[in-house]
Amino acid sequence: MQAIKKAVFPVAGLGTRFLPATKANPKEMLPIVDKPLIQYAAEEAVAAGIDVLIFIIGRNKLSISDHFDKAYELEAELAANNNQAMLDIVQNILPSHVDCVYIRQAEALGLGHAVLCAKSVVGNEPFAVLLADDLIRADDTDCMVQMVEKYEQYGRSVLGVERVPYDQVNKYGIVGSKPIINRLSEITTIVEKPDINEAPSNLAVVGRYILSPVIFGYLEKTGKGAGGEIQLTDAIAQLLNEEAILAYEFLGKRFDCGSKLGFLKATVEYALQHPELKLAFSDYLQETVKRD
Ligand code: G1P
Repeated sequence: MQAIKKAVFPVAGLGTRFLPATKANPKEMLPIVDKPLIQYAAEEAVAAGIDVLIFIIGRNKLSISDHFDKAYELEAELAANNNQAMLDIVQNILPSHVDCVYIRQAEALGLGHAVLCAKSVVGNEPFAVLLADDLIRADDTDCMVQMVEKYEQYGRSVLGVERVPYDQVNKYGIVGSKPIINRLSEITTIVEKPDINEAPSNLAVVGRYILSPVIFGYLEKTGKGAGGEIQLTDAIAQLLNEEAILAYEFLGKRFDCGSKLGFLKATVEYALQHPELKLAFSDYLQETVKRD
């Protein structure tokens, strides 16, 4: 079985829900406390043993490559001021063995199209996909680490899933599946953003995938689906005819940072865990709640 060494990060979306903050800056660069969303996702991939990060970028996405690149002037300035703590942070955004590849997606044609853009770099090996606006905090083991364990155990594509309220199934890819063991099931059907009446369950795909490279052949043939976009979900539905695919209910809490409310919840929860901020921020929150 081939190890999962490459991860694809589709970051070419327009981020319209966060305008004007995302007018000149990608939503994946929005920070939760002091770290951009894309860095949380990159760290999760690296923790899972992945060492090639493939970013599918669009217009206005140069700040992502800048973020993972060396910052000479900043480093010189911090060194001159003997600010070793900040220098360490800036120099260790990613471990040195990790490579970043940037692929430009000329048109935002959908998630499926974004993943297809990675085909030549991924080649004929299984790979991960992480959507950075789904931020997942796990207590012990990162979500992608858990998923790679399942992949290694079963040798199958694995989708990260969680239960959502039925009135929200039309926001997600939804799977129907038959149980294997606790938290793990075999997918029988998958549909993108179904109406509540047509949803096979309330088990929603969140932004974590481990996919067989066979998916690329199907992505090439997938036309526009839900929302007029080339959907990854539609290609996965085709892949199901050829290969078994697992749904894994990961341990951890997901924040939908593509929505303002989810983004604010993540900010509050991460601030309450932050070593420098937690006490002062918790006091502030309690006072604010009392006052209102
Ligand atoms: C995408 C996928 C969807 C998945 C969701 C998870 O949708 O198409 O299947 O459930 O991410 O966040 P989007 O949120 O880009 O509309």
